[in-house]
Amino acid sequence: CAVAAYIVSRRIRSRKNWNHTLSILQEFQIESSLSISRLRQIVDAMTVEMHAGLASEGGSKLRMLLSYVDNLPTGDEQGLYYGLDLGGTNFRVLRVQLGGKEGRVIKQEYEEVPIPPQLMVGTNEELFDYIATKLAHFVEKEGDGFHPRPGQDRELGFTFSFPVKQLSIDSGCLLKWTKGFAISDGIGKDVVQSLQEAMKKQGVNMRVAALVNDTVGTLAGARYWNEDVMMAVILGTGTNACYVERAEAITKYQGETPKSGTMVINMEWGNFWSSLLPKTSYDEDLDSESLNPGEQGFEKLISGMYLGDIVRRVLLRMSEESFLFGTEVPPSLFKQFVLRTPDLSKMHQDESSDLREVGRILKHALGIANTPLKVRKIVVELCDLVTERGAKLCGAGIVGVLKKIGRDGSTAGSRAKSESGRAKKTVVAMDGGLYEHYPNFRRYLKETVEDLLGEEAYANVSVELSKDGSGIGAALLAASHSKYN
Ligand code: GLC
Repeated sequence: CAVAAYIVSRRIRSRKNWNHTLSILQEFQIESSLSISRLRQIVDAMTVEMHAGLASEGGSKLRMLLSYVDNLPTGDEQGLYYGLDLGGTNFRVLRVQLGGKEGRVIKQEYEEVPIPPQLMVGTNEELFDYIATKLAHFVEKEGDGFHPRPGQDRELGFTFSFPVKQLSIDSGCLLKWTKGFAISDGIGKDVVQSLQEAMKKQGVNMRVAALVNDTVGTLAGARYWNEDVMMAVILGTGTNACYVERAEAITKYQGETPKSGTMVINMEWGNFWSSLLPKTSYDEDLDSESLNPGEQGFEKLISGMYLGDIVRRVLLRMSEESFLFGTEVPPSLFKQFVLRTPDLSKMHQDESSDLREVGRILKHALGIANTPLKVRKIVVELCDLVTERGAKLCGAGIVGVLKKIGRDGSTAGSRAKSESGRAKKTVVAMDGGLYEHYPNFRRYLKETVEDLLGEEAYANVSVELSKDGSGIGAALLAASHSKYN
């Protein structure tokens, strides 16, 4: 009889626990959900902040940084150029021989080098010395098919994917670090000068001809092939967007009006914030324990660096409060960033009836073995909620920009036809691992853009992957801003 009572009480307890798991899930679902009307409000908030950021320095959390790129590649670029792309856990060096409209990209080579984690939080000099050493090795290997101009220094486009205040195309001071970087003596320094000095130490005779954000590099790289590209978005470790703005709309810009009448604006939208954004207690904790509390709020809801960690935090709570993984909380769940976004993507795509892949990842990434199917289902549900929220917010951001530049179909201007009589096409170039490798994220994003724009306007907008364009884009901008032109 005592045994029977024990069994009954265990059953009741486990049912209670399960119900509590479900209520935590439901609470997260409610707090993170985004109705279409809320998304529309976010679109409007984005355009309002864009105006404010363009009006004055510090006018908004959206910095709307000047890129000094007022001419995008045309296809006429010729010669040998280098690119260096720094901004994530790897950096990339590349060279490209450009052959003008006929030849386009005649030959290109690149190498990708991981950045040792200690260098991401060390000193400025160490970081740039490391980069310059790797660049020097790469330059040494320049072989047949590449033709430097005799007697002239080689030129380089430097993609630096952090917020930088530029005063020209080839200079800019670091405003702050984002993503996993925190090198305090780098803030305020001219990153081109830092690179130039490090290259000199390595004996590399190369001139930085263009300093660009990765969004700007992606825009330039995509525009080289397609002149309808007006905007670029990075969805990777971090997230950001840039677009082509009319110079006269950039009130804070005091310089000469560019001939093209336009300039590319690096929005730094990762720092966008509005009380309309669905922030949960998990996001609050993630923020306060991050390297940059109070900063990059939009990024922390969307980008690859953070999505896995939001899921981990919810699982930790379920594990602590309702024993999701048994009576003991798995120690791995206390470790920040242990669950990575690529894991999320794989679990989310698991279509096997027993969610085998989910089980495998829980075992290998978190050390949690033998999970029952119903637990695996909860994990998948969480991946779905976190991804849906991130992708919808990004979609709303894109539509906000399209609205700002009159390409959302809402005004007579944006419905106008181009010279050829066809409706104006707008291409949004996308890059970054999150976009490329997470099909469900991509699907939610496109659905959101379509829902917000409506069928007719969406028919003229195309959201396209532009893979690895940012390094080439920077090399192209180095070509168009060459000292030897
Ligand atoms: C972060 C950086 C930004 C970059 C983005 C994507 O948001 O601040 O400059 O473009 O990550 O890499």
